[in-house]
Amino acid sequence: PESFPRTISATAHPSLAVAKYWGKQTGAINTAATPSVAITLGAIAARTTLTVDCASEGDQPCRDQVVLNGVSQDPRRFRPFFDAVREVITLNCPHQDGGSDQAGECLFFTVRSDNDFPTAAGLASSAAGFAALAASALTATLGERPPEEISRLARIGSGSACRSVYGGFTRWDAGAPAAEQLYPETWWPDLRVVVLPVSSAEKPLSSRDAMNRTRDTSPFYDAWVADAPSLAGETREAIAQRDLERLGQTARLSYLRMFSTMFAAAPPIMYWLPQSLEIIRGLEELRRMGLPVWETMDAGPQVKVITDAAHARQVAEEFRDLLVSPAIISEVGPGVTVGTASDR
Ligand code: PMV
Repeated sequence: PESFPRTISATAHPSLAVAKYWGKQTGAINTAATPSVAITLGAIAARTTLTVDCASEGDQPCRDQVVLNGVSQDPRRFRPFFDAVREVITLNCPHQDGGSDQAGECLFFTVRSDNDFPTAAGLASSAAGFAALAASALTATLGERPPEEISRLARIGSGSACRSVYGGFTRWDAGAPAAEQLYPETWWPDLRVVVLPVSSAEKPLSSRDAMNRTRDTSPFYDAWVADAPSLAGETREAIAQRDLERLGQTARLSYLRMFSTMFAAAPPIMYWLPQSLEIIRGLEELRRMGLPVWETMDAGPQVKVITDAAHARQVAEEFRDLLVSPAIISEVGPGVTVGTASDR
């Protein structure tokens, strides 16, 4: 067996859903109640450097440490994730030399992760972060692993992270343990996503709490879950045909239906800001003028616009006065990549 400590770095990109995951099945960790379809965003990334070491006898049982954008994180948030990593390692090397010394239980992780976009953008950084974390943790301990296994593990950290493992266009089905790639990032070279950051404030309610409140209190939740598969199917067809208008229209339906379930929760969940709505109305106006621009939103006030290469810059300019940091124009990006720490 190789010796510890070992350090590995990984880079992953956020996964922007065009058909949304909103709601968890009960009794399982981050298992989606709705199928989602997403685009991996190449322009922004989370970079993670992970060191794995073997605890010596008498060490504290939980020594994992995570520093995110320079800020030390509460280890309790990462405990289920690292416990899942240790479990996978134990399952994969039950008879290592030295007995329990090499099994997952004795390992602990020290992680530094940084987003290369302003944290102010308040994007789905957890998806990129946990995809990079899962890839580096498995590679550092078990060597190269299939993406399906990385995706399963990333899902424990954050549901949407299972999609960020793959580049291009992805699907994650209701009840599925991992995401899959639909098409690689080369599938639709003309597609662009323009991210419009309207606030740098931390979100008032985590997506986990918001999803659970929606499931437990919104009278619209069952209707949303029942309707989501056909919308996800339409979204996949739009991507298969590279039909921008159809993709834009289905993406709008998906996020607005998702928010409708939240507005009806008790107490209601409202992530939007006046600037978000101003952009939504502004895009309506641009569409009336014939521009191919459709928005989507997630558990926060930022607006992301689906468009093509010819119109991306105009969208970024149009709403400049409403933004807290410059618009980010993104192409479809690659999946997680892993390297040794010296590659960085
Ligand atoms: O995976 P989480 O807990 O970050 O939840 C993601 C939820 C949405 O971003 C709103 C939708 C999605 O499918 O990414």
